[in-house]
Order: sequence, then structure tokens, then C-alpha cells
Amino acid sequence: MRLQDKVAIITGAARGMGASEARIFANEGAKVILADIQVEDGNHVTKEIIDAGGQALFVEMDVSSQADWDRTIEAAISNFGKINVLVNNAGIIERDSLEETTEETWDKIMAVNAKGVFLGTKAVIPHMRAAGGGSIVNISSISGMISVGYPAYNSSKGAIRVFTKCAAVELARDNIRVNSIHPGTIWTSMSTYKRAFTREERAKTIPMQRVAEPEEIAYPALFLASDESSYMTGSELVIDGGATAE
Ligand SMILES: NC(=O)c1ccc[n+]([C@@H]2O[C@H](COP(=O)([O-])OP(=O)(O)OC[C@H]3O[C@@H](n4cnc5c(N)ncnc54)[C@H](O)[C@@H]3O)[C@@H](O)[C@H]2O)c1
Repeated sequence: MRLQDKVAIITGAARGMGASEARIFANEGAKVILADIQVEDGNHVTKEIIDAGGQALFVEMDVSSQADWDRTIEAAISNFGKINVLVNNAGIIERDSLEETTEETWDKIMAVNAKGVFLGTKAVIPHMRAAGGGSIVNISSISGMISVGYPAYNSSKGAIRVFTKCAAVELARDNIRVNSIHPGTIWTSMSTYKRAFTREERAKTIPMQRVAEPEEIAYPALFLASDESSYMTGSELVIDGGATAE
């Protein structure tokens, strides 16, 4: 029960890593708000959590919309009374080179991946302050640290990396901790989206010779969300099977 009595909002919780985080956080005692644009999958994961004895609520929302954040925060407060944890996990990708990237693609990726994290972080501040502190976990990527060839996606993830440090410093006196996670390749619907190679081919390029499962990010996110990481803020956790160490 590492998140006993905590209330956690997880964006992009209908699928992939977000769904895994929602299940694990609820299993550790958190009341979880699953926030996503995918209604069917979001409701499915929420029902699974409730059927297993957990507390959860699904909110249909788009992280790039201020109005949707207002509704999500309102739902968290009216149903669970407070907010202790936010995982800014929702994200989208296009595997376009610099010359293939259109203005529309650039704006869309920045709106969801970078602006979404800004809006979410700003929205929870008064509630975390009122709760005496909190933990915000931002899902960036190793693509926010090195070039892997997708300029719009990588730039949005780089924005999350440095935004995390700005927020961590500004909010440290309020006992609100802000950290980023930098996954390598995790096998989800995002990793298969327009991917030109197979899981096995990808695995061969990684020192550990395998890609990761969503749980291998969700457990480190649990650690950052919980009081176990109480002196960590502005940190970046690289979880990539050794990819960036090479
Ligand atoms: N899969 C990887 O290899 C990998 C590696 C590094 C970082 N990441 C990051 O991890 C996060 C989770 O990715 P995943 O692999 O689980 O992907 P996924 O596609 O399986 O899940 C992403 C979720 O975000 C939701 N989402 C998309 N746009 C949204 C919006 N505007 N508002 C609300 N929800 C929205 C989707 O509906 C989906 O449920 C993303 O931020 C991604 O960039 C993924």
C-alpha cells in the first residue's frame, strides 16, 4: 500500500504505460482518475480496477485543452476530495523526418506532449499546495535527450525534460516534487504505430537485447509518485535497457 489514501490523476491511462500505472497505483491504495480521449478503453481499464476492489474514475479529456483540465480537476476534487499525484503520461508521435514534418504535425505534437504537461502541472498546483505537497511525474523519453530522427516528437519530449526542472525549482518550497522519466522502447500501441521494424529487430539494437513491458515504467513511476522518493525533485530517470549508455 505504497500510495495509501493518495489521489492520483494519470493522463493517457486508457492504454499502454498509463493503463499499467493506473492498475498498479490503485493496487497500492491510490484513488485513481484515469484521463484520456479514448472512452471505450478508458472505461474498460477503470472497470477492471473497480472489479478488483480498487477506487477509480474515468474522465474523457484532451490534455491540450484548458477547459478539459478544469473538468478533470473538478471531477477529482468532487469525487475524491484532493489531489496528491499527477502523472503526465499522455503522448502522441509521428515518425517524420525534419523535411517530412508539416506545420500542422509540429503544432499537434507540441500541443499534446508539451502544452499538455504544462496545463496539467499548472492545474494541480493549488490542490497539491492545499494538501501540503504532492508529486508530479512527467513521462518524457530518451528522445528528449538524444536524436533518434523525429524532430517534432523529440523536441516535445525535450521540452518536458527542461520544463520538469523549471517546475521542480519553482514548486520545491511548496513540497511539490516534479521528476521526469525517460523510457527507451516500451512495447505499446505507440511503439508499433508506423514502426518500420519488428519487436525482435528493435531488441537487437538495445544492450539488454529486449524491449520493455509497460510495467517496467509503471513501477519506477510508482516510486516517484510515492513518499519513498521524498528527496527527489528535478531528477530524470532513464529506463532504456542501456540504450543511451552505449
Ligand atoms: N512506447 C514507447 O516506447 C515510449 C518510449 C518513450 C516515451 N514514451 C511516452 O510514454 C507515454 C505513454 O506512451 P505509450 O507507449 O503508453 O503509448 P500509447 O499510445 O499506448 O498510450 C498513450 C495514451 O495517451 C492517450 N492520449 C493521446 N493523446 C491524448 C490527448 N490529447 N489527451 C488525453 N490522452 C491522450 C491515448 O489515447 C493513449 O491511451 C507517451 O507520453 C509516450 O510519448 C513511450
